[in-house]
Amino acid sequence: MIQYALFFIIYSFAGWVVESMFRSLVEKGHPVNSGFLMGPFIPIYGFGALSVMAIGMVTAPYPFPAQLVIFTLFATALEYGTSVLLEKIFGMKLWDYSNYPIYGRHHVRFPLNINGRVCLFFSLFWAGLISFQIFILNPPVTRFISMVPVRIQYIVLFVFLVYLGVDLYFSTQLYLRFAGFLKSVKQLQMGKVTKELQTRLQLLSSNRIMHTFLRPLRAFPHLRDQLSSAWGRMPKGMNSSYLKDIRKVIVEKLPQLKKKNKTGLLKEFFAIGSTIIKRPEYQQLKTIKHHDKDIYTHNLNVAWISFLLAKKFHLHVEEVVKGALLHDFFFYDWRTFRDKDYLLPHGFSHPTISYKNAVKVYGKLTLREKDIILKHMWPLTVIPPRYRESFLVSMVDKALASVESVKAVLPESKRE
Ligand SMILES: [Fe+2]
Ligand SMILES: [Fe+2]
Repeated sequence: MIQYALFFIIYSFAGWVVESMFRSLVEKGHPVNSGFLMGPFIPIYGFGALSVMAIGMVTAPYPFPAQLVIFTLFATALEYGTSVLLEKIFGMKLWDYSNYPIYGRHHVRFPLNINGRVCLFFSLFWAGLISFQIFILNPPVTRFISMVPVRIQYIVLFVFLVYLGVDLYFSTQLYLRFAGFLKSVKQLQMGKVTKELQTRLQLLSSNRIMHTFLRPLRAFPHLRDQLSSAWGRMPKGMNSSYLKDIRKVIVEKLPQLKKKNKTGLLKEFFAIGSTIIKRPEYQQLKTIKHHDKDIYTHNLNVAWISFLLAKKFHLHVEEVVKGALLHDFFFYDWRTFRDKDYLLPHGFSHPTISYKNAVKVYGKLTLREKDIILKHMWPLTVIPPRYRESFLVSMVDKALASVESVKAVLPESKRE
């Protein structure tokens, strides 16, 4: 049994040698470390070689040409399955025979390919390799393995398995990260900029991580096509300066995108609130002291934060903004003034005063807007808010009022 494990190791290595040589030739003499792993092994060849040996035993009564057809069909199916599996895991194709880059830029469409995953040319190439394995490699390899003491065989296997585990782990991490990077770049180019995307790109575009992406890009030329189609033309020889450029643009672009996003939100906010804000009565609030500044600033702050939260929690954004803008709508400095019509202290009376003023200036309000204004001092005013929107504004008001009141007692220089 142990011999088979050694066959696996040797043929994984032999596969790496053959594929790297072939690829280096196709890439105009640039040495290529082919395959998914960092080390000089491509396990699929080891697995293929072992399978050929197993199928060979079963099909022994048939003439070699018939056996070769079966071997080749199996190898092709294995290649197809691996392609599907890798695409499932990483969400990207690692090779594509329908658009195969040769000599850097030139692309070839291999005839008789199936979904770009397998093609006749490479299946014939597998047939050649399998024949080479059976007639040329197998005899000396078998002899060599039988010469190695069993104890050494176990040690070799143990070391290989440890190495394979480590390489597999780090390589999978790297390819997953690269797949995430590719997806982010595509989203960025399409202008689908979310906070999550920004955080992801910020994380991924560090110098160190970008440098590691050279490995998948060198190992699988198809990934270069995918990246360059998402980002733009790639220089002829694959080099790190291309990734450096991407990184530079991402780093430059991100804060701008952030600003643009905020501007969009501000626009939306003022589109809702401007009818209220631009009235002269509302502008008058700027002159009335409140907490650290004035009622106008306080209302706008409460409305802006409530707006952002309302969007996040999918509440009635428009009513939240309007209600919050009008929650404190009175025209006196509450610390010095007492409305003789209201016997209750300011904390209890100003929600009603604000609501009455709002109706006087802006006409009828919606039930939610009314509730937001009247209940914003809850639980001081005993009846609890009826809507989630009212509860939200009441909480934001409390939080901001506390911050503003602390600022108000701080010396001017420490306020910001
Ligand atoms: Fe208030
Ligand atoms: Fe308030």
